[in-house]
Amino acid sequence: MDEFTLVAPSPPVDPFLKWAGGKRQLRSSLRQHYPPVFTGYVEPFLGGGTVFFDLATQGRLEDRPTTLSDVNGDLIGCYRMVRDHVEEVIQTLTDMAVGHTADHYDEVRDDFNAHRRRLRTRPGLVSDGYTPDLAARFIYLNRTGFNGLFRLNAHGAFNVPEGRYTNPTICDAACGGCRRSSADRRCAS
Ligand SMILES: C[S@@+](CC[C@H](N)C(=O)[O-])C[C@H]1O[C@@H](n2cnc3c(N)ncnc32)[C@H](O)[C@@H]1O
Repeated sequence: MDEFTLVAPSPPVDPFLKWAGGKRQLRSSLRQHYPPVFTGYVEPFLGGGTVFFDLATQGRLEDRPTTLSDVNGDLIGCYRMVRDHVEEVIQTLTDMAVGHTADHYDEVRDDFNAHRRRLRTRPGLVSDGYTPDLAARFIYLNRTGFNGLFRLNAHGAFNVPEGRYTNPTICDAACGGCRRSSADRRCAS
């Protein structure tokens, strides 16, 4: 189990990751089921974090103990880097966005896999080895890959092909929103 703290963005922002099974489209329906009063928030299947971001941007997690978790260590590593090194993540992501092409996607994916191979062959959790650079690659692949999928092959390599998007949003204000923080969040995977 590893943990991290995530900051609460304001004004409201959408999740910065596209995630299979994400609840963004259901947000207004889900809001009707938010309890009016609660003492803490536990999100066991974080993914793109739709409900977390919604509550956080409404200020409803202020001063409330919050635990976010997911079995996906890459996801947790990425969230940690956005929490701790958001300016570096944004800078790398912005540079990658400028150079985005199909060939560039393949290069970034190869690079991501080479970096992950090194992480997987050393002791410790994958999430503990994340760097701002790797997090930026994770987000780039998420924003430009097919349907935002995160899929690994039998050898543990990320093998999602490029998506067919015209001008995908690779780095938007959502990333910047994470800068404006006012609260601590705890997260585990
Ligand atoms: C449908 S997604 C969550 C979507 C998220 N609520 C959102 O709105 O974006 C499900 C998430 O649960 C995680 N997950 C699946 N099985 C899990 C498990 N046994 N323990 C922790 N997380 C798990 C997956 O990695 C995935 O990120």
